[in-house]
Amino acid sequence: MSSIIPTPKRLSLAVAGLGRMGKQHVVNALHFSPRIHLAAVSTPAKTELDWANENLIPHGVKVFSSLDELLANGKFDALLIASATKVHFEQVMTAMAHGLHVLCEKPLAMNLDQCKKILEATHQDRNKDLKIMTAFSRRFDLSYINAKKAIESGRIGKPVVIRCDNRDLYERTDGMINYLKNNPGIFIDSGVHDIDLSISFLGESIRPKSCYAVGSVSMHHELNDIGDADNAVGIIEWYAEDADPITYCYCSRIMQHGFDNPTEIIGTKGVLKINLHPRRDLLTIADANGIGNDVMPDYFERYEQAFVTELNTFASCVLDDKALPYKLDTAVMGMEIAQALQESFRTGRKVCWGKDGRRVE
Ligand SMILES: NC(=O)c1ccc[n+]([C@@H]2O[C@H](COP(=O)([O-])OP(=O)(O)OC[C@H]3O[C@@H](n4cnc5c(N)ncnc54)[C@H](O)[C@@H]3O)[C@@H](O)[C@H]2O)c1
Repeated sequence: MSSIIPTPKRLSLAVAGLGRMGKQHVVNALHFSPRIHLAAVSTPAKTELDWANENLIPHGVKVFSSLDELLANGKFDALLIASATKVHFEQVMTAMAHGLHVLCEKPLAMNLDQCKKILEATHQDRNKDLKIMTAFSRRFDLSYINAKKAIESGRIGKPVVIRCDNRDLYERTDGMINYLKNNPGIFIDSGVHDIDLSISFLGESIRPKSCYAVGSVSMHHELNDIGDADNAVGIIEWYAEDADPITYCYCSRIMQHGFDNPTEIIGTKGVLKINLHPRRDLLTIADANGIGNDVMPDYFERYEQAFVTELNTFASCVLDDKALPYKLDTAVMGMEIAQALQESFRTGRKVCWGKDGRRVE
């Protein structure tokens, strides 16, 4: 009998960006992803480099202050992009030029044009074997996975309305203000999750019929300067053979109690309800003030496990050469709708599409 113990192949991963999301991903890659070898990270931010020196170098992870420097100093299989959205486009294109598979945080880029260019690039011969995936974390959460299974098994009949709220905690830190000001808009940044989930619940072949949005600024007043909102509601109609389904999507940045993210899928034979009452754990406290529970402060805590499942799914797809769980085209369509909602909010006009997918002016 041979005494050689086979070493399973692991995905050599580099990560660009070490902000809130990047830190979560690197911790998951280091400690919760047996098929991943976290090889290197890059960030231009001094405080994040200090964090990496302290927390990653002891694990043998190489740390760089730019993506170019990282790519010049090693061979990797894949790049996880957790940088600010404004650099996603250039970083995805750079990664593909280096022959790397890519897991890119949502949204895939700042706008539809950039997303289309990325999609076009994936169709080029030299890139066709690369796995390029947008990280839609909620697709990997058990409750949303089970909701999708329930819809597919016919449990609620035909889905007719998807009601989803993405209400973020009100946060007035410099980091948050900077994040909001450099952001492509509330529907592209936040609503894109619910647009993507709608596509996943209604089926990847679903197409938008129209959308309309309203919004206002009540607390993050600098959003007026960039034509964005801190509370906004978007309505999307979808084409179907009979009753056209509707998505109602409410995004907010001003919650005082924590992250509140309810979703309901109303069908002809039943309703699915996810996250309806936000709570941190199963503890209920009753005292002289009444009865209640703590609330999770942010999506990082609510979707902690989903981020791990997402990363491990991506690694398996690359290592075992399996199809990704959803196509990049879906992220591009999601961006088209999110951008149209952003436009509708600005112009006050409804945006319509024909059955051929083209905009009707
Ligand atoms: N899947 C989710 O639920 C989820 C949640 C939060 C954020 N995100 C996405 O993750 C990405 C990062 O968000 P975050 O909350 O971590 O933001 P953040 O501001 O905390 O971190 C941004 C990172 O980008 C880096 N960066 C900034 N400007 C750069 C530049 N010009 N060149 C290279 N790097 C630059 C910063 O140094 C930092 O490392 C965003 O695209 C965001 O939409 C996804």
